[in-house]
Amino acid sequence: MSQDDWKREVGEAAVDYVREDSILGVGTGSTVNAFIDALGASGKRLEAAVSSSEATTARLQGLGIDVIELNAAGTLDLYIDGADEFDAHRRLIKGGGAALTREKIVAEASRRFVCIADESKRVGVLGKFPLPVEVIPMARSLVARKLVALGGQPEWREGVVTDNGNLILDVHNLDLVDPLGMERSINDIPGVVCCGLFARRPADTVLVGGPNGLQTL
Ligand code: A5P
Repeated sequence: MSQDDWKREVGEAAVDYVREDSILGVGTGSTVNAFIDALGASGKRLEAAVSSSEATTARLQGLGIDVIELNAAGTLDLYIDGADEFDAHRRLIKGGGAALTREKIVAEASRRFVCIADESKRVGVLGKFPLPVEVIPMARSLVARKLVALGGQPEWREGVVTDNGNLILDVHNLDLVDPLGMERSINDIPGVVCCGLFARRPADTVLVGGPNGLQTL
């Protein structure tokens, strides 16, 4: 089985968590795309969805699903999204697709966050995947210097502008033994909009697809 098969399997499994006629939060990425396809194939009806990116919005609307503003939805029962890395405590690195800020907002607005991932994303300690940080454009080099002071090596993801009109720094080699502490330290830097660490609000469940079938963390 390939990684695409694992993504399809977790995508299909996540459909079981979706309550008919609910308002669902939906994340971004290829695993989420597999979930959206499976949701469409299941015939399960939603009242509406709240989306974390323009790309996801287009895919949901393609299935005839009504996409509404978070401000109109209130607290959501469920958010489904992928990750770039997860650890045994269901803490995540996200933002490989540059949608981290909206993803963090929708996760925060949801009672339950089910993360869908494949075995290749599992790590003992977060940080092999460079940590995405969304920054206000005028603060790019200031924030980069502060990230160096925190022990990282930031790299500007040139050519990428987020859905919010900001820039992304991918930070290599940060020591993330204490992900919650690092999330707070990065959030404290003026000019940082959001960092891709999900430690303060980890996933509630991680569904993992892999060579030995599905696992639930
Ligand atoms: C998007 O910004 C990310 O947080 C995604 O959740 C992450 O990149 C996972 O994407 P894949 O499912 O494509 O690996």
